[in-house]
Amino acid sequence: MDIVVSGMRPTGRLHIGHYFGAIRNWVKLQEQYDCYFFVADWHALTTHFEDTSHIKENSREMVLDWLASGINIDKAVIFIQSLNPYHSELFLLLSMITPISWLERCPTYKEIKQEMSKDGKDLSNYGFLGYPVLMTSDIILYDAKYVPVGIDQLPHIELSRELVRRFNFYFGEDLFFEPEAYITESPKIPGIDGRKMSKSYNNAIWLHDDLKDVEKKILTMMTDTNRKRRVDPGDPEKCPVFDYHKIFSIEEEKRFIIEGCTGAKIGCIDCKRILLSHLIDFLSSFQEKRVLITDSYRDKDLYEILENAQNKALNKAKSKMKKIREALKF
Ligand code: TRP
Ligand code: SF4
Repeated sequence: MDIVVSGMRPTGRLHIGHYFGAIRNWVKLQEQYDCYFFVADWHALTTHFEDTSHIKENSREMVLDWLASGINIDKAVIFIQSLNPYHSELFLLLSMITPISWLERCPTYKEIKQEMSKDGKDLSNYGFLGYPVLMTSDIILYDAKYVPVGIDQLPHIELSRELVRRFNFYFGEDLFFEPEAYITESPKIPGIDGRKMSKSYNNAIWLHDDLKDVEKKILTMMTDTNRKRRVDPGDPEKCPVFDYHKIFSIEEEKRFIIEGCTGAKIGCIDCKRILLSHLIDFLSSFQEKRVLITDSYRDKDLYEILENAQNKALNKAKSKMKKIREALKF
C-alpha cells in the first residue's frame, strides 16, 4: 500500500477551517493508504522557541480533536515527532547536503520572517531556516509517496524533492522516493469577519465552541457588504456566509438562497438560520464524540494513548535509518 505522511503543528484545539481544510481529508486517506499522521512539535519550536509551556497540552488536545473527527488510531499511525529521534538524525544528515541558498530563496521563509519581524519577532535562527529540511526528513523517513498539505506548503514539498534527488545522487540511486504533494480540493472557509480563519484574528468557529456562541457568531457574521438593508439585492458569491452554505447545505437550499438573496426576497437572518441548523448538527455530533473520547482517555497522557502507534513509527524509522547509515558507509 502506498504511504501517506502528514504532520500538524500543535496549536491546540481545532477550528472548522482545520477540519474542512485538512482533517476531513486525512479521515478519507486512512481508508486507502498506509497513513502516518504526527504532531510536529519540533516544528512548533522553529517559530516559538521562547515559550514551550503549552506544547504538551496543545498536542494532547489536538490529537483528541483528530480522534473525535474520525481519525482512527487502529487505521492510521498517529505519533509525536519529538519522541522519534530518527527524524533528527536524518535532519542532521540532510542538512549536510542542503545548500543554504535553497533555503533562503524558499518563499515561505522570506514571507514569514518578514511578517513576523513586523511584530518585533526576529526569526533569524538556524532552526527556522532549516524548517523544510526537518519536514523533508519527516516525509522521506517513511518512504511517503503522498503528502497531504495546503498550497502554502508546496514550496517545502518541492524542496524535499530536490533534496531527495541530491541525496540519491551522492549516496545511492534509489534510497529515497520523491514525495508528491497531495492537494485535495478543499473548500474556502473564511472566518466570521470574511478574513482567513485564524486564532489570532479572533474570527474562528471552534469545534468545541459553545453552541449558543456559535449562534451569536453566525448571526453577526459578515455578509455581502452591498446588502445593507433587506431590500438591497446581494451576491452570494461575495458573501462568506455562502461559503459555509457550500459546505453544509443541500442543492435545494443553495438554490433557494441564491434566488432569495439576488432577488432580495429573503433576509440575511433567514439565510443564516438555514446555515445554523446544519452547523449546529455538525458541531453537536462532533462534540458528542469528543466527550466520549475525552472520557475514555481521562487518565492518560498523550504518550500513553499513542504508545502502540509511536512504536510502529519508531520501528519503521529505525529500519530505514539502518539503510541510510549503510548507504553513507557508517
Ligand atoms: N509544515 C507543516 C505545516 O505547517 C507541518 C509539517 C511538518 C508537515 N512536517 C510535515 C506536513 C511533514 C507534512 C509532512 O502545515
Ligand atoms: Fe449572504 Fe445569505 Fe445575506 Fe445573501 S442572504 S448576503 S448569501 S447572508
